[in-house]
Amino acid sequence: MTDQTITSVSREHRKFRPSAEFKAQANLGSEAAYKKLYAESVNSPEKFWGRQATEQLVWRKPFTKVLDWKSPHAKWFVGGKLNVSENCLDRHLGTYRENKAALIFEGEPGDVRTITYKQLHFHVCRLAHIFENMGVGAGDRVAIYLPMIPEAVMAMLACARVGAIHTVIFGGFSAEAIKDRINDCKAKLVITADGGWRRGKVIELKANVDKAIEGTPTVQTVIVVKRCGNPVTMVEGRDVWWREAWEGAPNTHKAKAFDSEHPLFILYTSGSTGKPKGVLHTSAGYLLGTKLSAHYVFDLKENDRYFCSADIGWITGHSYVVYGLLANGATIFLYEGAPNQPEADRFWQMIDRHGITILYTAPTAIRAFMRWGDNYVLRHHLTSLRLLGSVGEPINPEAWMWYYNMIGKKRCPIVDTWWQTETGAIMITPLPGITPLKPGSGTWPFFGVVAKVVDEHGKEVPRNTGGKLVLTKPWPSMLRTLWGDDDRYQKAYWSEVPGVYFTGDGARQDKDGYFWIVGRIDDVLNISGHRIGTAEIESALVSHPSVAEAAAVGRPDELKGQSLVVFVTLKSGQTPSDELKEQLRNHVGKEIGSLAKPDHIRFAAGLPKTRSGKIMRRILKEIAGGGAIKGDTTTLEDFSVVASLQQEE
Ligand code: PRX
Repeated sequence: MTDQTITSVSREHRKFRPSAEFKAQANLGSEAAYKKLYAESVNSPEKFWGRQATEQLVWRKPFTKVLDWKSPHAKWFVGGKLNVSENCLDRHLGTYRENKAALIFEGEPGDVRTITYKQLHFHVCRLAHIFENMGVGAGDRVAIYLPMIPEAVMAMLACARVGAIHTVIFGGFSAEAIKDRINDCKAKLVITADGGWRRGKVIELKANVDKAIEGTPTVQTVIVVKRCGNPVTMVEGRDVWWREAWEGAPNTHKAKAFDSEHPLFILYTSGSTGKPKGVLHTSAGYLLGTKLSAHYVFDLKENDRYFCSADIGWITGHSYVVYGLLANGATIFLYEGAPNQPEADRFWQMIDRHGITILYTAPTAIRAFMRWGDNYVLRHHLTSLRLLGSVGEPINPEAWMWYYNMIGKKRCPIVDTWWQTETGAIMITPLPGITPLKPGSGTWPFFGVVAKVVDEHGKEVPRNTGGKLVLTKPWPSMLRTLWGDDDRYQKAYWSEVPGVYFTGDGARQDKDGYFWIVGRIDDVLNISGHRIGTAEIESALVSHPSVAEAAAVGRPDELKGQSLVVFVTLKSGQTPSDELKEQLRNHVGKEIGSLAKPDHIRFAAGLPKTRSGKIMRRILKEIAGGGAIKGDTTTLEDFSVVASLQQEE
């Protein structure tokens, strides 16, 4: 992709400054203090991060060196030992936080549970014993496939406690997708539930796990949480109810110390090939990055009640539901279900009911709320809110303004946080007591982050010019590698622009230095804030017996950001029909999950290709968007293919 195609049309000029009241109470309320800290963080990163790590984390053995950087491999806080779950739980015991709510949970049917730090510690200790009795310990992989219920948090922390590496699989993924992930990391334990509530229906999680583990030779045990009471099949000797395993296990547990670089989790995410990437994060650096950013970006206070609507199966759930927040001793509100169940005001109702002070959600959700109408919001007070956050995709200025006026009542700063599964923690973000906000911009880099917009030769482009977004310095919460595929790690992130981290995003910096993210410029789509690789969808389609070839592209969509359009050529003898379209949609649902089901399927006699046989996605994107074909078509092997595709539309 050439840089001319990275165009940013937004020219937003409005600026919103933090109020004097917000500034006065902010964790960082002076621009001078920010500038000083930021300068230190990028000019003397080892001094900055060394001090932060010492102050912020509880160490069993101090580190001897801040950073060992052999590009592109980093080791942070070398020689140090700690336990991540101790940093999230034990450190708060014996303090005023011991009886503080760690989790306030509301299930979709309306059931509420409050779990204090002390109680969460009991649960995690018990589970840690259960793991150890099952022979699950340091370095073993554990797959977690649960709804948004407190047990998901407990399971993650118990893994961290015994040094096992968790891989959380989003509840929307299919049996096939679970199988691939478990096989890639060779998990020996799976933790799931009978089901989870979504829009009044039970999602049958255990049934999906049963199907998946028919093809996973490494799984020895499945722990099952009873959530919905739907019937499940328990396999003797393999499956055990959480509650039964939990009874009688001791509620104290001496956590072992692990190396700073001990792997904490693998999280699979889409890339530009058909195989998802197992992003590997390790212990101390990840924890420090999430803890420090949560403190400053969310301006966390002891009495905050923080609600992040992301599922625990995504990185946002890992970093800003679990680790970054618990390490700060915050009160986290967890919600299991859909935002429009029973009605479209569920979030606003819960905000008033629980006195939520901070809301962190995604632009796709904000656009849905806008569409559902202001009346749902106006039924509620929302006076407890003091800060709003956005994550997952660029937020269009119109949605930003609605969020600011309608939800924040012009009183709450919005932190538009740019980051990725790979970065572990927030990288570009406003600091709410300081940064003058521009709707749609992630504004400035966070501490320690050096972000640049460069051209195809890696040269920084002038202000207000689009280019590739890169990060030029290692940071503590960066991914360390891709599980089992270090080559791919080096190629995917460190070779597009040699020696620096390529984000896969296009961006522009305006004259004030503000960053504006344009979106992905690789073969990855962002649909409703979820990352989906075009190649994954194509390989799912091609695995259907009727399909010869497939190409997936995104088309701008008011609600979802992008919608998924696929072009399919059929094997000879197959006839296009609406029924086949439905079959193909369901097939993708089965192979990946319903989140990847195409919005539009178009049958085509042929796909536009270069002479070397590469599908020209740019042209398909233009056809899908209904626009004219712009740019160079001279490399096309056969223009008549394009002409017939245009006629069919
Ligand atoms: O394209 C960017 C977009 O989401 C991508 C990362 O997706 P994922 O790894 O699933 O993590 C999402 C949650 C951190 C990025 O490459 N993205 C994320 N946040 C923003 C964003 N685009 C614009 N503005 C954001 N605030």
